Amino acid sequence: MKSVIDILDLSVEELDDMIKTAIDISKNPDKYANKCKGKKLATLFFEPSTRTRLSFEAAMYELGGNVIGFSEANSSSASKGESVADTAKIVSCYADIIAMRHPKEGAPYVAAINASIPVINAGDGGHHHPTQTLADLLTVYREKGRLDGLTIGLVGDLKYGRTVHSLINAMSRYEGNKFVLVSPRELKLPDYVRNDVGNKAQFVETTDLMEYMDKFDILYMTRIQRERFTDLDVYNRLKDSYILTPDKLINAKKDMCILHPLPRVNEISVKVDDDERACYFKQALNGKLMRMALILHLLELNDGKRFPKLDGESGHVCKNPTCITSTEQELEHVFKKGKDGLLRCIYCDKTLS
Ligand code: NCD
Repeated sequence: MKSVIDILDLSVEELDDMIKTAIDISKNPDKYANKCKGKKLATLFFEPSTRTRLSFEAAMYELGGNVIGFSEANSSSASKGESVADTAKIVSCYADIIAMRHPKEGAPYVAAINASIPVINAGDGGHHHPTQTLADLLTVYREKGRLDGLTIGLVGDLKYGRTVHSLINAMSRYEGNKFVLVSPRELKLPDYVRNDVGNKAQFVETTDLMEYMDKFDILYMTRIQRERFTDLDVYNRLKDSYILTPDKLINAKKDMCILHPLPRVNEISVKVDDDERACYFKQALNGKLMRMALILHLLELNDGKRFPKLDGESGHVCKNPTCITSTEQELEHVFKKGKDGLLRCIYCDKTLS
């Protein structure tokens, strides 16, 4: 059973095929209108969402399928204390594929190893967001005609911004990409994301948005993730760190592409929306097309095998308060060795401390 918990669960060939399918869907929607007739997508959203949930739903309807699900934890049995594992087993009886968003890191992975249908991670805490990356990849491909040899500025909350983590994982598999990480010191990219990439891509760090503005092929703005802060004073101090306004774009490349996973708070002034380089609304449309391609891909693949449960060392305890192990008492804590040689929780990727 193929599930997509991390963007690395999809090979580069699979990504390239899905991009082709998404472009074909946009040109020939009728060809796909009945492909999922009789199939049901369950959208299990334990955390708020507009684009991701609605684009998954629109994707399934446009493939001729149906959708069941919930959009907040309070309207599910999670509010009665049901575990993610049980929820996944139950929903496997009613649907053909699951899209799950959850505030705890590793929750969709727990669902995947317990479900008998494919599970798609629609965002888990500050960890991964692979389907946003699909939207990003299609947008970059359509705008730039390639996914390699690009200088990509990633701006804002690189610590908690899950879309950035998945995007780095994906883009570092294409040759010659360079990442410029622009964030306040407190919101730097977690070490585990960078260590996983190793020397497959180049990284430069700065706190100054303007330092490399004239070099970017892609400028990826992100929201400071208010809901992930334990200290709101820190959030208030950092929330306006980077605000993109038309004057800041004067020296940027004429064919630069400005992306944002949205929702924006105030990181991009609405005055930028009319700039030809602003691609964030196209990105939302591309998200639906890629989710259609992903649903088709996962429903077609059925090797009869369960999504693999990672082996590793037990006997340690994950202390990350946002890991799924912090709320699901019966989950076994397991650690695997990362590329940096450090032990990391198999659910949330945090290093053992
Ligand atoms: C992102 C998310 O949920 O991580 N939104 C989305 O899915 N398009 C980004 C965000 O919430 O800032």
